[in-house]
Amino acid sequence: MAWNAAQYEAGYSFVWQYGRDLLGLLAPRAGERILDVGCGTGQLTAEIAAAGAVVTGIDSSEAMVEQARRNAPGLDFEVHDVCRLPYREEFDAVFSNAVLHWVPQAEEAAAAMARSLKPGGRLVVELGGRGNVRALVSASDRALRELGVADPERYHPWYYPSVSEYTSILERSGLEVTFAALFDRPTPLDHGLAGWYEMFGKRLVEGLSPEQLPEYYRLVERFASEKLRSEKGWVADYRRLRVVAIRCQAT
Ligand code: BEZ
Repeated sequence: MAWNAAQYEAGYSFVWQYGRDLLGLLAPRAGERILDVGCGTGQLTAEIAAAGAVVTGIDSSEAMVEQARRNAPGLDFEVHDVCRLPYREEFDAVFSNAVLHWVPQAEEAAAAMARSLKPGGRLVVELGGRGNVRALVSASDRALRELGVADPERYHPWYYPSVSEYTSILERSGLEVTFAALFDRPTPLDHGLAGWYEMFGKRLVEGLSPEQLPEYYRLVERFASEKLRSEKGWVADYRRLRVVAIRCQAT
C-alpha cells in the first residue's frame, strides 16, 4: 500500500503513542542492538535510541523511511520487506508495533525476524489480533454490497491471528513464547470515521469508482454508528495481540 507519511503523522499519532506501552515490555538497555520492524515515521525508534540502544528502523515504505530520517537524523533507517530481512543473528531484540497485521505472509515474516535475532534474543511485538476492527470492516462490507460489489472480503488487506495461531507460527520459527495476550483497546478516532477509512482502508474500496466514494462513506457511517459511535465521537474496535518470545539457544 502507498502511504501518505505526512497525513499519517498529522492524524494518527495514537499509533506510536499507544506503542509506548509496548516499549515498557521491550525495556531497551544501553548498548543493545535493536531492530524496529515497521518503524513508520520513526518516533518509537527514537525512543529506543534514547534509552541508549543501537537501533535500526526498517519499513517497506520509502515515504515512511524518508520521513523517519527527517524526524530522527543520525539514526539508521532502511527500506526492507519484513519477509526478506538481510540480518543474521545480529540483534538482541526485535520490536514491532502495529505493523505485522499488514503482512499475511506471517510464516515468512516470523522466520526472518527469528533469523535476525541472536540466540537468546527477544521478540516483542503487537499487532491487530483475531476480531480486530470487526465492526469497522463489517460496516464497510455491508456498504460495498449495497453499492454492488460482490465478495467485498476479497479486498481485505489484513491478517488478524488468534493467540494459538500466531504463537504456533513463532514456535515453528525457532522461538519460545513467554507471554501472549489478546485484549480489546477501544481507540478514539479524532479525525472521524471516514478519515480512518481514507488513511487505512484504500484497498477496501478498490471495487468502487471515485464517484461512488461519497455514498460509500455515508453508508459506512450509517452502518457503523450503532457499535462505534458514542457521546465522545467515533471509537474504533481495536483488539491487540501482544507477544514476547525468545530465540531458542542453539543446542
Ligand atoms: C490496527 O492497528 O489494528 C490497524 C490499523 C489500521 C488498519 C487496520 C488495523
